[in-house]
Amino acid sequence: MSGIKGRKCKALMRGLIPWILLPNIMLLLYCLTNTSQEKMRSSREDTCPLSMARLLKKSSTMSPQSAESQSQLCSPRVNIMFMKTHKTASSTILNVLFRFGEKHKLKFAFPDGRNDFFYPSPFLCSQVKDYRPGECFNIVCNHMRFDHQEVSKLLPLDAVYVTILRDPVDLFESSFHYYHRAVPLTWRLSGENKLEEFLNNPQAFYSPEAYNSFYLKNLLFFDFGLDNNLEADDPRVMRDIHNLSKHFHLVLIAEYFEESLILLKDLLCWSIDDILYFKLNARRSSSVSRLNPEMKAKALQWNGADWRLYQHFNATFWARVEAYGRERMKREVNQLRRRNAEMKAVCIEGGEAVGAQKIEDGRFRPWQPVGESSILGYNLKKDTDPKFKTICEKMVTPEIEYLSNLGVSLWLTRLWGWLKDTIY
Ligand SMILES: *[C@@H]1O[C@H](CO)[C@@H](O)[C@H](O)[C@H]1NC(C)=O
Ligand SMILES: *[C@@H]1O[C@H](CO)[C@@H](O)[C@H](O)[C@H]1NC(C)=O
Repeated sequence: MSGIKGRKCKALMRGLIPWILLPNIMLLLYCLTNTSQEKMRSSREDTCPLSMARLLKKSSTMSPQSAESQSQLCSPRVNIMFMKTHKTASSTILNVLFRFGEKHKLKFAFPDGRNDFFYPSPFLCSQVKDYRPGECFNIVCNHMRFDHQEVSKLLPLDAVYVTILRDPVDLFESSFHYYHRAVPLTWRLSGENKLEEFLNNPQAFYSPEAYNSFYLKNLLFFDFGLDNNLEADDPRVMRDIHNLSKHFHLVLIAEYFEESLILLKDLLCWSIDDILYFKLNARRSSSVSRLNPEMKAKALQWNGADWRLYQHFNATFWARVEAYGRERMKREVNQLRRRNAEMKAVCIEGGEAVGAQKIEDGRFRPWQPVGESSILGYNLKKDTDPKFKTICEKMVTPEIEYLSNLGVSLWLTRLWGWLKDTIY
């Protein structure tokens, strides 16, 4: 008995030590890098005064089919705030934005030293690399804890605010899978199916104050800078949702990803070439837990605020599709699928995503969760027509690598990645 206990205890300690050390190391590094930024906070009154450069006409060739759209009359929008939510297919949108921004030499507001704006701390302009009060940017798109007032200081008045949501049941499952090893609250879960064990009695494991607890409850609400511990029937939930709807011009829905991109293209006056994509940061399907209806109901109830958020914006999303025209949407989605399939045939070896171990080129290996290797990536064909090589490479480049290519220093992220992979 005591032998088993002892062994369990030792295993627990082994698990604990890095987790006690790591946050401290990270905190120290964070403080070292953050001192210069603290000084700037006092002088952040200035708002962004300029209207940034516009693109004069449509940049890519238009196909005759799209002539019916109003796109000839508009010029492509270049000032964009993409609120990147967690576990919502947002990495794929990020890749689209990176490519567009790079192609048109737009100015990104990037974080410094890492790939997010000091998440989960609330967003501050001073977290932006090379920020000076009054400085304007075209695109803000890295993970942050949203604060509209603060973000708005970086962008011209005509900036378009976009975000993406996903069904909170799947989002919860995904977040639990991806982050549970980084949330100490879950370490007491001992069973085979930790997710079910948690959902059967969340109150027993959850505490709002605990380290990283927001990954376990209403993560969308948290990302938007709201209180993720509100109960669904709290009047503040609907108030916050209506408040958000005033700040975002378009809310995409991950379950309807292609329709989402078409609405985005329409809103931004972009061309179909601008929204071609390969799904990035997707998980091996065998690592996805299928929740039974009872567990789904529990997950919904537990994430009730996110559920209300999702339902609200799912409804506004479909009203947008209706206004856009169902038939027109169908045609555009088909065109997007066809074009994506063509790109896949040109670029991707074997035609599909593969596990990280099978990705030959290190540049295309995606970031993995702690203690796992479940996120897929791509191998490029070796005999790709040279005129497609660059675009193929960009389309399969994971977020961290792409940021690095765009000149962002990622030493904190890389250090954390190294520690993560060394310990597990
Ligand atoms: C909307 O959000 C702002 C900023 O968080 C807050 O000050 C304001 O009270 C909110 N408005 C409503 C109607 O909730
Ligand atoms: C989202 O809206 C669509 C269209 O109205 C509907 O079919 C679907 O069930 C909704 N999804 C959720 C989760 O409410």
